[in-house]
Amino acid sequence: MPIPDDDAIREIVESVLASRKYQTIAPDLIRAIAAAEISKGRSRKDALKATKNQLHQSAAAYQTGRMAYDVWLLDLHQSHKAPYAQEFRARLRAIMAHHASTAERLPILDDFYSTVLADLPPLRSVLDVACGLNPLTLPWMGLPADAVYYACDIYTDQIRFLNEFFPLAGIRGVAEVRNVLAHPPTQRVDLALVLKTIPCLEQVDRSAGARLLDALNARYLLVSFPVRSLGGRAKGMAANYEAHFARLSAGRDWSIKRFEFDGELAFLATTRSGTVDEG
Ligand SMILES: C[S@@+](CC[C@H](N)C(=O)[O-])C[C@H]1O[C@@H](n2cnc3c(N)ncnc32)[C@H](O)[C@@H]1O
Repeated sequence: MPIPDDDAIREIVESVLASRKYQTIAPDLIRAIAAAEISKGRSRKDALKATKNQLHQSAAAYQTGRMAYDVWLLDLHQSHKAPYAQEFRARLRAIMAHHASTAERLPILDDFYSTVLADLPPLRSVLDVACGLNPLTLPWMGLPADAVYYACDIYTDQIRFLNEFFPLAGIRGVAEVRNVLAHPPTQRVDLALVLKTIPCLEQVDRSAGARLLDALNARYLLVSFPVRSLGGRAKGMAANYEAHFARLSAGRDWSIKRFEFDGELAFLATTRSGTVDEG
């Protein structure tokens, strides 16, 4: 096994963090990708390029325009007063338009959770894995007032924003910076959301989807896939991801329901782990 070139890895991490586009990404993820690229025998220059490319494909490409978290928070503070429901939800929709995954979900948002979660007992704990701006869909989820919401992603500024958002949404929420490739979350929850995330993680590590599903400890798992590329082309994506999820779930003792929405293919798995108080 080649000895890792620590200087090269450090230089790549510094150089990536110096660029505005990647400056708030968790350094441990940048380091892991850089180390993997260096260990392939690439030059520093090529490893830097490849590292940035991976970060773009798996994360940065989804953010559209400037992520103006401070401005958004001010806005939410104002609209949160009254009339809470309409105005607040309208602001949340406008913010969610800045992340491609939630932007695509906006047209189906009124039906998405009400359809998928319709037959489930009250969900008192939810884990949103590689969440993006999806925690802003909380007012559409219909969770009980005492529910706890955990979320994680790799952007420090986004996580700070979400932690300030939760009290405004009236939910006990905790967001944390976490590279789920290296440290998948394992807390026991009623529902884990793995929305449109597996293809991104598998860009970096082909075994990441299976490893994530192995690690999660949830009674219900909602796993979804995009059915169009970021560029808008469908290219048989639904069929490919359906087959991929069939492979990922093979051999697991799950019962699975399939839901197809415009732009998103979702699978709700009932697992044998975790417990939900059905009362
Ligand atoms: C396609 S988006 C999905 C976002 C959200 N789940 C949704 O559906 O609205 C993929 C998300 O994964 C995050 N991500 C990429 N690599 C990650 C990693 N190693 N650990 C945690 N999150 C990651 C990105 O920052 C991005 O927010």
